[in-house]
Amino acid sequence: MTIRRICCIGAGYVGGPTMAVIADRCPDVQVIVVDLNDQRIAAWNDADLGRLPVYEPGLDAVVGRARGRNLFFSTDVDGAIGEADMVFISVNTPTKVKGLGAGQASDLRWVEACARQVAKAATGHTIVVEKSTLPVRTAEAIKTILEAAQDPPGNGDVPRTFSVLSNPEFLAEGTAIRDLETPDRVLIGGEDERSIQSLAAVYGQWVPDDRILRTNLWSSELSKLTANAFLAQRISSINSVAALCESTGADVREVARAIGTDSRIGPKFLQSGPGFGGSCFQKDILNLVYLCRHFGLPEVADYWESVVHLNTWQQHRISRLVVQRLFGTVTGKRLAILGFAFKADTNDTREAPAIRISRDLLEEGAQLAIHDPKVEPSQISRDLRLESVVPDPETGTTSQALSGQGSWWTAGSVEQAVAGADAVLILTEWTLYRHLDWKDLAQRMRRPAWVFDARSVVDRAEVQSAGLTYWRVGDGAQ
Ligand code: NAD
Ligand code: UDX
Repeated sequence: MTIRRICCIGAGYVGGPTMAVIADRCPDVQVIVVDLNDQRIAAWNDADLGRLPVYEPGLDAVVGRARGRNLFFSTDVDGAIGEADMVFISVNTPTKVKGLGAGQASDLRWVEACARQVAKAATGHTIVVEKSTLPVRTAEAIKTILEAAQDPPGNGDVPRTFSVLSNPEFLAEGTAIRDLETPDRVLIGGEDERSIQSLAAVYGQWVPDDRILRTNLWSSELSKLTANAFLAQRISSINSVAALCESTGADVREVARAIGTDSRIGPKFLQSGPGFGGSCFQKDILNLVYLCRHFGLPEVADYWESVVHLNTWQQHRISRLVVQRLFGTVTGKRLAILGFAFKADTNDTREAPAIRISRDLLEEGAQLAIHDPKVEPSQISRDLRLESVVPDPETGTTSQALSGQGSWWTAGSVEQAVAGADAVLILTEWTLYRHLDWKDLAQRMRRPAWVFDARSVVDRAEVQSAGLTYWRVGDGAQ
């Protein structure tokens, strides 16, 4: 079956960029991305490509080439499903916040809603592709819902039939376009060889065949959770070693280089920092933990859960350390937070380390001036569950500072953020922060002043020669 029309349900960080690249690379395939969120769809349709709802380097160019040609964004979910040969489900699967499995299991209500909507609106034969990250064996539930809506054999000219594939997405935010255009691999899990071949032919337009892996449904679903768990586990491992380096005089960068040159270990994902953030790692590991307990494997569950515990500990460790260095109190002190996104080159703040660290410091009564080149102030406000307060332009402080309550505001520039600050915390590795003029910034700060470089992005000698006290993660020499 040659795929001519694709519908993707979910126009988020995965659905939008993934479908844009498919449309760009497959001009003969019509791709419609649908979402219930009409504001998000309007933003995808914005004539100004600088205002797309997702910030990803290179995305604007890809959308610019394909949109209106064979790439469309719409809120007409039923209409797009009805026309499609293939429907991708790319909706959110966050951790459940209440009920059975709360705090660990994935909330599958949006996925189930999609399956029911496809069951209702599809016509002819439809291949349904799980693109969302899902617990292993979710395809069983989707198949059951779709099979209940299937026409019995011999019913009508073109009976409604379905097949289900798993095709997890491995893109990382900030490099999504590169990851989609030159993936390490594309994974397709399924039972029906013809459907697998149809999807492989779509990717085959630009991905070499030896990079298209075919597995059974359950291996595909489980591989996605496992890949994220392995990647996150490396970060927790190196962060645990960073703490030990700080106590022993070792340097985590040197240790990472020394172990990363072992070809069995490899150099990637050994960057120590403020702990991993992002919408995937924590959620997917917790989901794995839940599944392990469900299947009677508590030791396996405990093993993976420790990766998340270590990560949370690392974030609290950094905020504690800042308080300790600033003579045991940050109450009323101004601190500049540089970077709020969970990593560079994205406007996404989901599970960003900056959230937990900022909350800890606000709890201690700090006054935070937050700078990020891409994150909207309204998003920071939602993440911190606190409205921003504009400081008095004359005194540079807020009324909260005197009462000991924490408060925050957004700074339009790094210079503005550091003005009058006792300390700078670098929490996202934006390129901008690698090239700061520390001599100039130091003059704007209150002395003695500190730089806490949780991302190891600035030059220690430069900061120190500007008269600032420098701390970076995992450096035992300080
Ligand atoms: P997202 O929250 O950015 O986007 C999901 C979109 O789905 C939202 O816009 C929402 O309105 C829409 N939606 C939900 N239910 C719908 C319905 N019934 N009909 C129409 N639209 C609906 O999420 P995301 O970051 O794109 O992630 C989607 C999935 O991909 C998740 O399972 C995630 O774990 C997985 N994933 C994410 C990444 C990543 O880097 N963000 C990478 C790989 C995999
Ligand atoms: C991750 C996976 O990499 C991707 O394959 C999957 O599809 C989605 O989840 P993402 O979360 O977008 O991607 O970004 P990633 O580059 O993996 O970074 C995740 C977090 O780990 C970030 O907070 C990042 O700063 C941190 N990180 C990454 C480190 O602290 N050290 C590293 O060495 C690498």
